[in-house]
Amino acid sequence: MDFAVFAFRLILYILPSYFANSVPVVLGGGAPIDSGRKLGDGQRLFGDGKTVRGFFAGVAAAVLVGAVEGMLLSGTQWDIYGTGIAAYILAGLLLGIGTMTGDLVGSFIKRRQGISRGKPSLILDQLMFLAFALLLSYPLAAHLFSLEAVLFLGVLTYFVHVGANILANRLGLKKVPW
Ligand code: CTP
Ligand code: MG
Repeated sequence: MDFAVFAFRLILYILPSYFANSVPVVLGGGAPIDSGRKLGDGQRLFGDGKTVRGFFAGVAAAVLVGAVEGMLLSGTQWDIYGTGIAAYILAGLLLGIGTMTGDLVGSFIKRRQGISRGKPSLILDQLMFLAFALLLSYPLAAHLFSLEAVLFLGVLTYFVHVGANILANRLGLKKVPW
């Protein structure tokens, strides 16, 4: 398979996850998921950057992107699931839940390492959400997986995440460019 085709199919697959990861910056806020709770180390469970509204906004965005993809791609030559629109919606849901859960796990580990909310952590910020998104959607998307595919998505996610954060900072959506 041509590299461009390989890359494009994987981008279509991971797109709901990228939306889930970025929408909370705009639609998040309000009560934190951990309700301010701290662990024995004196640090917050997740911190103020992880809100209930942000979590559900992220999952909803992924489902929406999945549904739109399903309507546009199902039955075409770019159909990545080949079993109708419902598969795209389910993939969106799994990618969304995986992304937002991985994002929480990343913040949980950052707090345990004493990294305060909003401070960057290369692996935890950029690759934790991807790992969980891939894990949860694997049963549906196993046919898209290979070592090359996972490596490609890791590298792509790294650059997209860095680029998106710089853009969000320039647009005034985020105080820091990471
Ligand atoms: N956000 C949210 N709810 C979530 C995830 C994100 O409301 N479940 C919003 C918050 O306003 C957060 C912003 O999106 O500040 C950026 O998300 P992220 O970079 O993941 O959070 P940080 O503030 O950097 O916190 P952390 O150090 O825990 O990653
Ligand atoms: Mg951050």
